[in-house]
Amino acid sequence: MQLALASLEAAEKVFRREHHQYADTAVLDELRSTDYARLDAGGHVYLDYTGGGLYARSQLREHFELLQAGVFGNPHSINPTSAASTALVERARASVLEFFRAASDEYLAIFTPNATGALRLVGEAYPFRAGDRFLLTFDNHNSVNGIREFARARGAETTYIPSAAPDLRVDPELLPRYLTETIGDHHNLLAYPAQSNFSGAQHPLTWIEQAHAHGWDVMLDAAAFVPTNRLDLSVCHPDFVPISFYKMFGWPTGVGCLLARRQALAKLERPWFSGGTIVAAFVQRQYYQSAPGAAHFEDGTVNYLSLPAVEIGLRFLDRIGIDTIHDRVSALGDWLLQALGSLRHSNRSPAATIYGPQAYEQRGATVAFNFLHPDGRIVDERYVDRVAGEHGISLRTGCFCNPGAGEVAFTISRETLVGGEFGDATVLEDYVRMIGLPSGGAIRVSLGLVSNFADVHRFMAFADEFIDLVEVPDDLPPRIVC
Ligand SMILES: Cc1ncc(COP(=O)(O)O)c(C=O)c1O
Repeated sequence: MQLALASLEAAEKVFRREHHQYADTAVLDELRSTDYARLDAGGHVYLDYTGGGLYARSQLREHFELLQAGVFGNPHSINPTSAASTALVERARASVLEFFRAASDEYLAIFTPNATGALRLVGEAYPFRAGDRFLLTFDNHNSVNGIREFARARGAETTYIPSAAPDLRVDPELLPRYLTETIGDHHNLLAYPAQSNFSGAQHPLTWIEQAHAHGWDVMLDAAAFVPTNRLDLSVCHPDFVPISFYKMFGWPTGVGCLLARRQALAKLERPWFSGGTIVAAFVQRQYYQSAPGAAHFEDGTVNYLSLPAVEIGLRFLDRIGIDTIHDRVSALGDWLLQALGSLRHSNRSPAATIYGPQAYEQRGATVAFNFLHPDGRIVDERYVDRVAGEHGISLRTGCFCNPGAGEVAFTISRETLVGGEFGDATVLEDYVRMIGLPSGGAIRVSLGLVSNFADVHRFMAFADEFIDLVEVPDDLPPRIVC
């Protein structure tokens, strides 16, 4: 054990010497040993930051001290306790705009339960009509894919822009072609992720201006991008930006945001009204007056006791510096990508296959892959899950709610999907077999705020267990969800 520790320390020293970008982020090692001591105390290697970020102890302390010291009422009133809550909600709102450098005369920050809630707000209120277009990349989270149902119900056409294996990027020649395929005076919406939650690929922010130049509105799904990258809304100007705060700093869950350009919001048509979204409504006359600004989009009572934690979390990130976090995960991510890509069996065949950008350029530190047996078959992801658990490693397996990226990664054709229907009685197991998937999905590891050298080192020691692995045990549990 002591020998292993000594070799880990020596390896880290060399890594620091060779990667100044990493050495300059030592402040995060201090945080790891204080604010995040629970990780090492519990022997955890947390590698699912794209699933959810981790909170610092100091965030909780500051939040709970605030709640313990104050008396906070429902903000929909003007009494003193209500005014105290309103002040905190508005401070949180201002801190979101400030963090993303969004001018308050250009953007509004609308609080939602999560990124999905933000996406739904746009989907259900975007004025889709016959002849309008909803254009989106294959590489999208299901919460973006689902908007096609709103488009379909209103007669608008949905078109997907394909990505290409192995990098799972979009051919740069393609986008202009799709953007010019519009007819007359219509509402057209382009949606894509700034960073893929599947492969870590970062799609160009320059698409925003390209799309605007052709009269399109742009929804930039930044949920997987903003935890480790700067999104500067004074430089790029997407119309709608959904995010979830727990992905950025772990606490609180249940709060997200739609950053929206005022100009684009003005064209949304909300399908209903509710408490909180109106100034007045009548019963004897079926008339209501919408509330101005963000309130028009915030149904019911906002999560006013959690919202102060958003301001605290953003301040916490600002103190560290999002660029410091970016530098750290880039240095570790680059190493992880290279180490995994060069893993070999004794017969020199690759022991892992990576889905997505193979080089650490225009990508984030989210890596999707599968282990391979020496004969090239994919190692069953359920076995990988089992071994990871034994190593105290938290990673993800499956398709990560991004079926388009998975379809390209596993070269599943449209014909195959049309042929294989997922009926009520079908179990996932049979479906995987029916459409010829080599496994139940991919493995995903993602780095974040307090990832360190030891995490990647321990992950690679775990990966070594798959070298020369010929068979997996036959007692793996059934697959339940993708
Ligand atoms: C890119 C992306 N978009 C949207 C979402 C949905 O976020 P939530 O489940 O917090 O609504 C996720 C979640 O993983 C994501 O990674």
